[in-house]
Amino acid sequence: MDERVIRINNAAGYVESILDGRKPLVGLVLGSGLGQLAELVEDKVVIPYKDIPFFPVSTAIGHKGNYIAGRLAGKVVIAMQGRFHYYEGYPMEMVTIGIRVMKALGVKYLFVSNAAGSCNPEIGLGDICVIRDHINNLPNPLIGPNLDEFGPRFPDMTCAYDLELQKLAFNKAKELGISLKRGVYFGSTGPTYETPAEVRFYRSIGADLLGMSTIPEVIVARHCGLRVFGVSVATNCANTTNDSVVLNDPQDVIEQADRAAENLARLLNEMIKSL
Ligand code: HPA
Repeated sequence: MDERVIRINNAAGYVESILDGRKPLVGLVLGSGLGQLAELVEDKVVIPYKDIPFFPVSTAIGHKGNYIAGRLAGKVVIAMQGRFHYYEGYPMEMVTIGIRVMKALGVKYLFVSNAAGSCNPEIGLGDICVIRDHINNLPNPLIGPNLDEFGPRFPDMTCAYDLELQKLAFNKAKELGISLKRGVYFGSTGPTYETPAEVRFYRSIGADLLGMSTIPEVIVARHCGLRVFGVSVATNCANTTNDSVVLNDPQDVIEQADRAAENLARLLNEMIKSL
């Protein structure tokens, strides 16, 4: 058996033994500052990554390192409170292992959230944006021998972000009085923020939101057939000039993400209720 499958099965076997018969329907990845969504989970079991065989531990600021399993809006969910980024130095297999473990546990839907810089003047600080597509500027996590037991060699990415889930988000946001934007997420390796020239370039090719995560998880999720919903919180406006010095500050990113977290939690809760 492929070594990667052995690692996934070992990790999934451990998590399954702790879940004790609970079968999660929805997987969530909670990005920077959004980890507090996990507080809404009821009958919670906390599984530290450090206890899971073959799992890395997250080192990024604002990221805890736990799976949280339990009930959200009446559904069994498993959330990653803290994710792995390529810039932390992990190989792509490890950046995405949490998603394949969720698949092995029976998850059907993946909800991913992140903090992102806006390069679209119509997306302002603290705005919640449904991801409608992405542009990948990170290494593809499916490079290497294909894991046929998870999915095909050449996965289609036309509707990577599920159209019905996007529609559901807008319907629920309207009912809840939450304003939602929509955008294309551009992912780079980081850990540097973009230069103004890069921001102008990415904007010119169709990016609205800039980040350093999410895309590897979404690619691996689509490879294994999970239905994906992605959402970004615009935590800073990316600089398009350097005529004056306005630096990106990671602390601002976390504060803005925290401010949006309550509305985002209400939205995800209502969406999950309808699945
Ligand atoms: N660029 C890249 N990643 C980010 C940003 C940004 O401006 N803000 C939050 N994550």
